[in-house]
Amino acid sequence: PFEWYAEMRRSAPVHFDEERQHWDLFRYEETNRVLTDYESFTANRAGSENATDDDGAMFQTMIMVDPPGHDRLRGFVNERFQPGTLREYQPRIEELTEEVLDQIDGENRFDFVDEFAIRLPITIIAELLGIPAERRDEFKEWSDALVARPEDGSESSIKRSQERMQWAQQQMGQYFAQLLEERQDGSGDDLITLAATTEELSRGEQVGFCMLLLVAGNITTTNLLTNALWCFEERGITDAIRTGEIDRKQAIEEVLRYRSPIQSLDRVALEDVELNGRQIREGDVVTAWLGAANRDPELFDAPEEFRPERSPNRHIAFGKGVHYCLGAPLARIEADVAFDVLLDRFETIEADLTDLQPLRSLYGLESLTCTIEE
Ligand code: HEM
Repeated sequence: PFEWYAEMRRSAPVHFDEERQHWDLFRYEETNRVLTDYESFTANRAGSENATDDDGAMFQTMIMVDPPGHDRLRGFVNERFQPGTLREYQPRIEELTEEVLDQIDGENRFDFVDEFAIRLPITIIAELLGIPAERRDEFKEWSDALVARPEDGSESSIKRSQERMQWAQQQMGQYFAQLLEERQDGSGDDLITLAATTEELSRGEQVGFCMLLLVAGNITTTNLLTNALWCFEERGITDAIRTGEIDRKQAIEEVLRYRSPIQSLDRVALEDVELNGRQIREGDVVTAWLGAANRDPELFDAPEEFRPERSPNRHIAFGKGVHYCLGAPLARIEADVAFDVLLDRFETIEADLTDLQPLRSLYGLESLTCTIEE
């Protein structure tokens, strides 16, 4: 998509797509404006995804709700996702990363996506939520199904993956409801207990919160891990990262900018607004292309180049404004630890970069075959 972004940024930075009846924004400035100005642009995309409580009440999660309601849905958990709080948890993340690597099948060739990048975020979020060990396998099955992609473009396989997704949502919802019930006494220190003891949230909202963590956090982090190895191998800097010659954390920031796991976010205009000379009307859907803003030459030197040492790096891969990613500090620690452990364990790791199939909506790869030596 990157050539298209560059072309559009030059020729039509605020563009109305007649076919989709949709605005597309390609520059940093307007993207920033739309994400920050929640009074003019709502995150509640037409309310079509409203969910209901067991007793039928409507509820929404933080990602769909504007201030002032947003604070009630997010405030209770903010502290848990602060970098300081998470740092205490880092040794555990290292252990879990080792465990995931222990489970890799195959002698020295494996699919980095399936065997590592998908498993690690699920394992870590299961632990943070406090999913009991004996239910972990089932939990992983549901998590996989939640993001199941059709095997091919045929109607039957699309239908199958949709059914699997609905089934998983239902299973997961029931399971969270049950755990929330059991943990109302507040004795644990996991996220389910935290949600269960938050009186400002209805039970449906508590379930919604748990589901949101999976939906928002898993594939995105999978794609960050995959895109990182992809970028490092493409630039031939994997060894320089291993030795510390190139700063790992900074290189990961550049991956977030250069191959952003979420390429776009939608908002709906609440009033008529002028953006860069174009008239947006109340009710219009606006797509802010993070992936394009992250390559805007107004903000970045040589934006089309992957520069692992780039600093400062003011990318907006985690969004901007009140909905700024809750899990950003966690995703950063996960990626940092993942490459620390991985490159320490394997003497060499080589990814096969031929015939890669980039995914579109959430940006990553379907698979990335690696050869390793311990
Ligand atoms: C929100 C990106 C990982 C939880 C967001 C948003 C972006 C984003 C762009 C803003 C959505 C919007 O404004 O509409 C990413 C990326 C990740 C990642 C690129 C990985 C590299 C995670 C993880 C978690 C998480 C690991 C949790 C465990 C959330 C939540 C929100 C959110 C709960 C909603 C926040 C709110 O509405 O206040 N994320 N995310 N994310 N993310 Fe992430």
